[in-house]
Amino acid sequence: MNDGIEKKGNRLIVRGHVRHNDLRSFCSKLYQTIERQQWSDVILDFSLCAGITEAVMLPLMPIIADYRENSVGFQLVEPNDDKLRRLFFNTNWAHYIDPDKYDRNPHEGGHVPALRFGDDETSASGEILTKVMNLILRQLETDRATLKAVEWALGEIMDNVVNHSQSPIGGFVQATAYEGSNRVEFVVADAGIGIPRSMNIANHAEAIRRAIDEGVTRDKTQNAGNGLYGSYRVATLSGGQFEIHSLKGSLFCKENEGEIENRSNFVPYCGTSVRCGINVSDPELLGKALRFKGRSHDPPYDYIERTFENKENELVFNVKDTAQRDTGSRQGGKRIRGMIENLLRERRPVNIDFDGVGVISSSFADEVFGRLFVEMGPYDFMTRIKICNADPTVKGLIDRAIMQRTRLGNGDA
Ligand SMILES: Nc1ncnc2c1ncn2[C@@H]1O[C@H](COP(=O)(O)OP(=O)(O)OP(=O)(O)O)[C@@H](O)[C@H]1O
Ligand SMILES: [Mg+2]
Repeated sequence: MNDGIEKKGNRLIVRGHVRHNDLRSFCSKLYQTIERQQWSDVILDFSLCAGITEAVMLPLMPIIADYRENSVGFQLVEPNDDKLRRLFFNTNWAHYIDPDKYDRNPHEGGHVPALRFGDDETSASGEILTKVMNLILRQLETDRATLKAVEWALGEIMDNVVNHSQSPIGGFVQATAYEGSNRVEFVVADAGIGIPRSMNIANHAEAIRRAIDEGVTRDKTQNAGNGLYGSYRVATLSGGQFEIHSLKGSLFCKENEGEIENRSNFVPYCGTSVRCGINVSDPELLGKALRFKGRSHDPPYDYIERTFENKENELVFNVKDTAQRDTGSRQGGKRIRGMIENLLRERRPVNIDFDGVGVISSSFADEVFGRLFVEMGPYDFMTRIKICNADPTVKGLIDRAIMQRTRLGNGDA
């Protein structure tokens, strides 16, 4: 049997590896089952699925939520593959397919799971932005300007859902950090009127192609028309990807290839989905990508300011607020060291505030302070890292970690 989606009555059977271009096939089979054949319950059978990503699953979430609000029930048959089954729980896909059976995942690992936003009972956009920035700062190597570029792009794409989509169920967003390629990928999708209708352009492929041009908007008096243009530039100039599906139109820009694949499809995607893959390694990205009318744009009040700057304009890393769950393990220590290294790229001191933290594990102390001390050398460490409010136990653990690590060096991983 081939990979892909097969329909048997009200059962959609997903086989093998499903790729991003299978999204339309999924939409068409849902349409046939629900609208043509009038089934009011659908079984999504992933038992034989071997691999599927957010590029297909996240855009399905608003479509499913919209059907569900119109009294269609969905039942999930979990993947047989253990890893994939866990992915369905961890990403909240299982939850949004069948919320009565599956709870929302309270833990966040290498991703920000699918979250619904833009209507009253759901997550606030600002909270989601902070979660995604947090994810990047923890998992990837980056700098403040690049974080701003990503925050700007995600904020613009989420704003579009609220401002233009008229989606009855709001939008969905999911983000994943890929450490190997130092890349973040996010997908934002809604079940709204679509870009072509919002822009009043009959040719759907053309509408999407035009939407990513500078200054193109449905209403020049209200908007600048930079959201999709800027996001497209952030993604592609970083060497990442950019993909839009809206009604019959689609647009896809592949990694490191300037070419835009702009298509008209037979099957519509009933809403808008934007997927953005951004490599966060280049500190020049913000300056290169966010230029409007020839002028560079530096977004104000960013995540670093909101989360780490105090009134005196100092960077404060509050261990209790930011790293409480990490202080018990070496793995957690690694993440926190990564965050501090990212903050240190700002070229100013970082205050690490232990207020309210009673104890940390010695492996955490070693991974953060022992390794930073050896990596930076005593002078830089002492001038650029300021530890405050550590109680005697924590102090002792940090001292010991630095002394031991100084003897060992950072070589033995
Ligand atoms: N999710 C969406 N649903 C429907 N239409 C959309 C959506 N996203 C974008 N559009 C359409 O695409 C146009 C271009 O979007 P873009 O974000 O580039 O500019 P804008 O939102 O009009 O202006 P700005 O983002 O600068 O405030 C919008 O004016 C709107 O017509
Ligand atoms: Mg916009």
